[in-house]
Amino acid sequence: MAKKLRVGIIGAGGIAQAGHILGFQKVPGVEVAAICDPNFAKAGAVAKKFGIPKNFDDYRKVLEQKDINVISICSPNYFHKEQAIAALLSGRDVLCEKPVSMNSAETGEILKAVSQTGRKFMVAFPHRFSAVSIFLKKLISEGEFGQVYYARANCLRRRGIPGLGGWFTTKKLSGGGPLIDIGVHILDKTYWLMGAPKPISVTGVTFQKFKEVATDGGWPSLETRHPGDKYDGVFEVEDLAAAFIRFENGAALVLEASWAGNSETVMTYNLFGEKAGAREDTSGLTVFGEKGGVLTDMVASLPVVNVYDAEIKDFVSCIREDRPPSTTPAQVLAVSRMLEGVYKSAATGKEISL
Ligand SMILES: NC(=O)c1ccc[n+]([C@@H]2O[C@H](COP(=O)([O-])OP(=O)(O)OC[C@H]3O[C@@H](n4cnc5c(N)ncnc54)[C@H](O)[C@@H]3O)[C@@H](O)[C@H]2O)c1
Repeated sequence: MAKKLRVGIIGAGGIAQAGHILGFQKVPGVEVAAICDPNFAKAGAVAKKFGIPKNFDDYRKVLEQKDINVISICSPNYFHKEQAIAALLSGRDVLCEKPVSMNSAETGEILKAVSQTGRKFMVAFPHRFSAVSIFLKKLISEGEFGQVYYARANCLRRRGIPGLGGWFTTKKLSGGGPLIDIGVHILDKTYWLMGAPKPISVTGVTFQKFKEVATDGGWPSLETRHPGDKYDGVFEVEDLAAAFIRFENGAALVLEASWAGNSETVMTYNLFGEKAGAREDTSGLTVFGEKGGVLTDMVASLPVVNVYDAEIKDFVSCIREDRPPSTTPAQVLAVSRMLEGVYKSAATGKEISL
């Protein structure tokens, strides 16, 4: 019989309510046993809404619950390091929201705790679990593309700043703007599809042009907000970032991320391989190949899956089957270092060697 898992959720906001709680509750033999939020009334309301038996105002109280064996971290980025390390050292397996931490030094500390404890640790990158990602990863792993030597990746919003005036736009709580918030998704996915080569240098720029005319992007959704949540703060992060990343194997990646900018709203990437290429955008996946001397465009017909559910199901399977999570320590650290490199390069105006 599958091992019974009891999950404690840290942070009762948008992603806990839209992704983690329901994702865990859908897996047979998994119970969401407790939730915490410093906004205690919110923890209580969310516990009631989802039928979670215990709620607390502090994550340490969740860790005191002896029957909890899995922790899911859904708090603002600033708290991930402390909470992930405490959860790992207390013997729990951990699913941690992206970005894993504020910078690569913090990520290194978390990964040290992972290797000390041998617990499962996965970073929540749901886009790795779409049907397109799984199909493309298989094709690339089987050599259908040859080396993927160049990629373009972007996650652009025309107007849409999450939690405007809250922790998302407060640098000491978020670590940055769209780059670390949504750029991280498309960076991780593209880099992973490229075969996770070792990054060696980064050139980056950041801009902040919409501070005075910023509009809230509708995330976290109104039904997941609660009286006591604060959105009256500052906007002190970038609203657009772009980067050029070089890898040890000679490959390169161009990355763009924005919360606001005069462009289309889109999440897309192109992969350029020696034998084939691919593009995924809102209309789906196209694989650019060649057959019988003719250039071909294959449009893949794939189901739409709930990527949060798929990610959480996979994490539970990793625990039950005792296999490594999809995000390896080397990949988690590489993504952290690339993000940090972009911010350092933007601040200094120089290319950063990783
Ligand atoms: N994977 C995804 O697609 C995705 C989507 C959105 C957000 N996220 C990530 O999830 C995390 C949470 O984002 P969100 O959108 O749910 O934000 P949110 O503001 O909706 O929720 C965060 C919650 O954490 C609570 N909180 C504040 N300090 C805390 C602490 N010290 N301990 C525990 N809880 C604390 C807040 O009161 C709030 O209820 C962030 O790291 C974010 O980057 C991931």
